[in-house]
Amino acid sequence: MSTSLGIIGFPIGHSISPIFQQAALDHHGMDATYQAWEVAPEDLPTFLEGLRYPEFLGINVTVPHKESVMGHLDSVDEWAKLVGAVNTIKNSSGRLVGYNTDGLGFLRALRESGGFDPRGSRVLLLGAGGSARAVACALAETGASYLTIANRTPARAEHLTDLVRGHGLECKAISADPENDALGGACRDADLIVNCTTLGMFHGSGEGSSPLPRDLIPVRAFVYDLVYNPPETPLLREAAAAGASRLGGLHMLVYQGAASFEIWTGKVAPVDKMLDAARNALS
Ligand SMILES: NC(=O)c1ccc[n+]([C@@H]2O[C@H](COP(=O)([O-])OP(=O)(O)OC[C@H]3O[C@@H](n4cnc5c(N)ncnc54)[C@H](OP(=O)(O)O)[C@@H]3O)[C@@H](O)[C@H]2O)c1
Repeated sequence: MSTSLGIIGFPIGHSISPIFQQAALDHHGMDATYQAWEVAPEDLPTFLEGLRYPEFLGINVTVPHKESVMGHLDSVDEWAKLVGAVNTIKNSSGRLVGYNTDGLGFLRALRESGGFDPRGSRVLLLGAGGSARAVACALAETGASYLTIANRTPARAEHLTDLVRGHGLECKAISADPENDALGGACRDADLIVNCTTLGMFHGSGEGSSPLPRDLIPVRAFVYDLVYNPPETPLLREAAAAGASRLGGLHMLVYQGAASFEIWTGKVAPVDKMLDAARNALS
């Protein structure tokens, strides 16, 4: 029987997951198709019921459904519960099981592609949305020494610090306003700066904008932008001008997708092939 996989979001037209996931399925010679499905919030319950049929192996989940799917699943793994969001669902003989592979993808890209070990490091996290939550939890697990969370809406950053402190990582929340002295101080202290905002993303309201100017980026900091489209983001350009090391979001995108692929299929994801396909899709 031919099987089906895919990604749901609203909208979903921008997603390159179908390209690199299909490359992985084809690499293993699987009779399976990975598609993008645009699912409006009001259609989510019906869509998920249909996912229980045997022809569906599973799906990825993106904005705005990562939290709302959780109430429709039969079980959710510990890591997804901790993060409070699901980005991967497996159809396990009619039972829907939720996972979150964003933290895994973030860390694997940082270590393997960036060559940066976050243990003992002071981290400045920009943003307090869904991806920031996954990144903050991953950093707490790996033994980072201190986390500053800077967000446009400081109350959301405060809320995230409560979650992170519960996992034993010291942290504080500040405003992300570049005119604010606290942001300058956090930049100066940071070994690692991670952008989890949508600033710089193609087709977003912050397209073309960097969350930090180059004069706030210390040369010794490692700058990691989760935004992957465009590959050369405004923040990465500022980091290069400041002389700092840097990494874009494409590796994380592929590594989180590779972890999803392994959950669905039990096969080793061909990461190099997936990365090549993802790069080609954006070039
Ligand atoms: N590479 C990967 O694998 C990967 C995985 C996940 C996400 N991402 C990328 O990460 C980015 C964030 O995704 P998300 O799911 O965390 O989004 P989200 O939950 O919607 O959070 C968006 C964040 O961006 C901030 N923000 C939005 N517009 C802003 C502006 N004009 N000025 C300052 N801050 C602004 C928001 O601040 P407020 O709280 O003030 O609204 C919030 O902190 C996206 O570009 C996404 O594509 C990449």
